[in-house]
Amino acid sequence: MAEVSPALLSVVPDDEGKEKFKSSSHVAFYRRQMEGPHLQHRVLLDTVVLTEKGARFELLAPGTQTRLLLSVSAYKNDTVRLLIDELQPVKSRYRVPDVITREPACEQLRVETRTMDSVTLSWSSARHRARVWRFPLRVELLCEEEVMATFNSKGKLWFETLQDGPSATSDGSELPEDPTSLLWKETFRHFVDIKANGPSSIGADVCLHGFSHVYGLPEHADSLQLRDTRDGEPYRLYNLDVFAYDLYSRRGLYGSVPLLVAHKPDRTLGVFWLNASETFVNIRYSPTDHQDDQTPPVKRRRMQPETDVHWLSESGVMDCVVLLGPGPRQLFSQYAQLTGYQALPPLFALGYHQCRWNYRDEADVKAVDAGFDRHNIPYDVIWLDIEHTDGKRYFTWDPALFPDPVGLQRHLETKNRKLVVISDPHIKADPDWSLFCEARDGGHFVKDREGRLYRGSCWPGECCYVDFSSPDTRAWYSSCFGLDRYKGSTPSLHVWNDMNEPSVFDGPEQTMPKDAVHYGGWEHRELHNLYGFYQHMATLEGLITRSGGSERPFILSRSFFAGSQRLGAVWTGDNVASWEYLKISIPMLLSLSVAGVAFCGADVGGFIQDPDPELLVRWYQAAALQPFFRGHSANVTKRREPWLFGVTVTAAIRTAIQQRYCLLPYWYTLFHQAHTAGLPPLRPLWVEFSRDPSTFAVDHQYMIGGALLACPVTEAALREAQVYLPGCGELWYDVHSAKAYEGGATLSLPLTLDTVPVFQRGGSVVCRSTGSGSCTAELRQLPLSVTVALNSQGAADGELYLDDGHSFSYRDRKAFCLRSFSLMSGRLLCRPAGEDGAFDCDTVVHSVTVVGLKNKPSTVTVHVSGAKETRAAFEYTESCCRLTVSGLNLRVATDWDIQID
Ligand code: GLC
Repeated sequence: MAEVSPALLSVVPDDEGKEKFKSSSHVAFYRRQMEGPHLQHRVLLDTVVLTEKGARFELLAPGTQTRLLLSVSAYKNDTVRLLIDELQPVKSRYRVPDVITREPACEQLRVETRTMDSVTLSWSSARHRARVWRFPLRVELLCEEEVMATFNSKGKLWFETLQDGPSATSDGSELPEDPTSLLWKETFRHFVDIKANGPSSIGADVCLHGFSHVYGLPEHADSLQLRDTRDGEPYRLYNLDVFAYDLYSRRGLYGSVPLLVAHKPDRTLGVFWLNASETFVNIRYSPTDHQDDQTPPVKRRRMQPETDVHWLSESGVMDCVVLLGPGPRQLFSQYAQLTGYQALPPLFALGYHQCRWNYRDEADVKAVDAGFDRHNIPYDVIWLDIEHTDGKRYFTWDPALFPDPVGLQRHLETKNRKLVVISDPHIKADPDWSLFCEARDGGHFVKDREGRLYRGSCWPGECCYVDFSSPDTRAWYSSCFGLDRYKGSTPSLHVWNDMNEPSVFDGPEQTMPKDAVHYGGWEHRELHNLYGFYQHMATLEGLITRSGGSERPFILSRSFFAGSQRLGAVWTGDNVASWEYLKISIPMLLSLSVAGVAFCGADVGGFIQDPDPELLVRWYQAAALQPFFRGHSANVTKRREPWLFGVTVTAAIRTAIQQRYCLLPYWYTLFHQAHTAGLPPLRPLWVEFSRDPSTFAVDHQYMIGGALLACPVTEAALREAQVYLPGCGELWYDVHSAKAYEGGATLSLPLTLDTVPVFQRGGSVVCRSTGSGSCTAELRQLPLSVTVALNSQGAADGELYLDDGHSFSYRDRKAFCLRSFSLMSGRLLCRPAGEDGAFDCDTVVHSVTVVGLKNKPSTVTVHVSGAKETRAAFEYTESCCRLTVSGLNLRVATDWDIQID
């Protein structure tokens, strides 16, 4: 962990370092399950019932009369769901609501074969089957005859049934004194957790056959490829506010997505463990070098690799969806069909955001805004942190510092810029504040285990916490964003949800006690990891409603869960201004992307402490190539607007931001793909080069879409970058020099402070803007340049997506434009790509550059549909085989061809 300045520590109340957080050995349910013994469950095969939803079996654990119910469903999108619940629970167990957007259509299962020991289920996809074994319980998922995954392969199934509990007092003193009562009460430091229905944990293992690489499970400050956990802590999924988090750690951070993705050359498979309570995941790769020290080498070579994944959750039902791929694209689509697609951001949200805790007052905001214009640096959004409010009461403004918020927003709006303000989930417990009283009287706050208002401390001092799990409360909270209700807000105001793990300074692990009570009587333990997701959802609803349903809002959230991609963006919280944190931002963002949360970023420059100029430049360069791009810093850091470090630094940052703006037509197209196909803009190399095992562990470089490979510089004073260009037979072009390189090798690239290694893949087409403008609204008026990078067959293709950049017309009126560019046999075609939208778009292509063209052409002719062919002037640079045709004025929405002879 980087050193944190003492001054800064003072901003975090009750900071007691790591002691504040649990390790797995502090967690009773984890210890119980790891120590066992695990009872071997028996499937009562005769109880099988087939319905249109799937097959059901009763399970019996030896030594108990308790019966469980196992449901197996196959969905039409090649996913299989396994669900285990109690047959007759004393009360319902929690089932995570609102995450799965729409249950995919079910396949009708049939019993294909039945033996004494197993039942094999099949469905219309003749390739897949599920085989349920009687004793001990196993469920195998097969493709043809190959077993891909086995549920309960290592017999780790664990299911603690709910009990009617003794009534407990706040200190637990009425709990019975027998030893089992310890299971009802758990103490961490001075915090006592009383479990209303006793211990209720669940767990199971899934063996992934043939796999030796698994990914996902954000959020952890760790490598992209998940590690074998035998030597240390399990991955913990428990949303927590961790200031200056440890690096290369599996401890829980701000958000959780319980999706694990396994990949091998011929298959990608996912395991989605739908549970919102505290969860741990243990991973064992085998054979591994350290495990198999005893194994004779010959035998070791013959062993098929496999990965065992052991999931353990504190409560809820066991609900596990296996996504069968077979490739990464199908897997992303399967996951998006289940939990939703990435929200299509308004275009401005993909521009650069300038934030700081805090811009002092209106004059400060205006000065910073003017600074961007003065230094010719594009940006779109300026942010206000907690100090803009009247005493940390969200939805208000400090009357002295921000007396005219509407005027401020109008001022920014004249330049087409936006304001984002923070809105945290804790509400100052101030009986003289109408919003607090409304929430209290409307029953919108979380309660404690005694049924009183739950109170905890956060930025404003004593607070109550909005219970976003209640639909009525979400509707109430959404209404608070109405323009009539939120005084000082205008339609150009967007929102930042922070501290929504939730952060409670005086709570256990700085969060809400698990025995706090939510809507429906559910204990906080059941839905802890959903809290931030629900605030994000309510804020989104509020901003959409505010515009009468017409505008796409932007909301950033620190906490998240599976499905948060539908709601907006997330960032990686309180990082530190050091090279190590810059470096880790890449695997962190890749893990988020693999788990569907595609609109993600890290605080540029590092939130805590002051970056030196070189680090700041390198951070801008890296983040300009990542989805969410925001500079942010803590209250006690030095000011760091891009022009404060001398002309060289200003110029380097300006270039990085301008290049980002030029690339926005491409980024926007990638977000359209995320929105419609579930494909993340940021992709680990293995997503694009799925058969090349040398890409499987790479996490310092990545693909932006299918066309660009980025390798940001994350080391100080580096003179030379080593870049792996994947794919034998592939061609890659340095986007700056157009120089071509062959794939399947590592390239040494000399570096200066201005170099950002980015390569375009042969066979792709990338559309850029010819200028960056001062914000995204100006981009829309600028012509495009199209770069065609030829593959070894002399061909290339790509897409461009355009719409109005801010409304839902693309969805409601099909007002979009989707074009394809393809070059084959010397002819570049611009045509509609699939479904043609109704967007009246007058964007033009100004230039076309073709890289990798071996011979100088003699003529270039342009043919626009309905017009006569014309000759075009061109330039050819022999040294890098580059053809540039400029001075064009071709409407992108019209069909046209360019013939190169
Ligand atoms: C949290 C956030 C940080 C913010 C600060 C004050 O630490 O992570 O981004 O600036 O709170 O609101």
